[in-house]
Amino acid sequence: MEQKVNLEIEITDDGSATILVPELNEHYHSVRGALTESNHIYRDSAFLHRCNMGGTARLRLLEIGFGTGLNAVVTAMVAKEQNPVHYITLEKYPLDSDLTSQLNYNKLVDKDLYRLILEAEWNNPVAITPYFTLEKRSADYLTADLPSGIDVVYFDAFAPEKQPEMWSAEAFGRLVNTMNSGAVLTTYCSKGVIRRLLESLGLTVERIAGPAGGKREILRATTP
Ligand SMILES: C[S@@+](CC[C@H](N)C(=O)[O-])C[C@H]1O[C@@H](n2cnc3c(N)ncnc32)[C@H](O)[C@@H]1O
Repeated sequence: MEQKVNLEIEITDDGSATILVPELNEHYHSVRGALTESNHIYRDSAFLHRCNMGGTARLRLLEIGFGTGLNAVVTAMVAKEQNPVHYITLEKYPLDSDLTSQLNYNKLVDKDLYRLILEAEWNNPVAITPYFTLEKRSADYLTADLPSGIDVVYFDAFAPEKQPEMWSAEAFGRLVNTMNSGAVLTTYCSKGVIRRLLESLGLTVERIAGPAGGKREILRATTP
């Protein structure tokens, strides 16, 4: 995939904005609801689920594809004293601020947190709140050194049909090597081939309900 050009903003079914990449005919989020997707698939089914499992003081979370920062802000909004997080996110093509400033998230999320997240320096950890440290890495997931000791993975790459190299056995093998025991990965993609791939790498994979009004099922995978 080459650097994106001519990105367009669209409004999804829940009223929150997303970005369309016309040359891929691919959106950054579900057109059924961008905010609904971030809240359900990533914040609730991965981060809060892992928090509820207990056992780790400050969780280390790895997101594949920072994009608009929507997954980051909804996570920051629930990161509290009892569930602090170090949020590491990889992005090969950071978006321009003139585009992110046109998204309508300020009306839907904590706008001060969102501004801090967008403006945070790249490639250095930044304490956005006492409970949410953000590390935006300007990096290619396929070739960069990956962080270690990860408890939660938000796997939010473009779809396998559009960017198959992000979903290869080799790439998932590297990703699973970053994960601690009892770590949780979620993705919107529920394809059997991805479920079997994650199982072949030793993870226990569940198909769980997707967001209301959106995809029927999503995947949640847990390391032994
Ligand atoms: C589905 S969007 C992610 C949406 C994002 N999580 C959000 O909350 O807005 C996929 C993201 O992966 C990024 N991406 C594509 N190829 C990548 C690569 N090789 N390494 C890192 N990021 C990549 C894209 O630029 C895009 O921002």
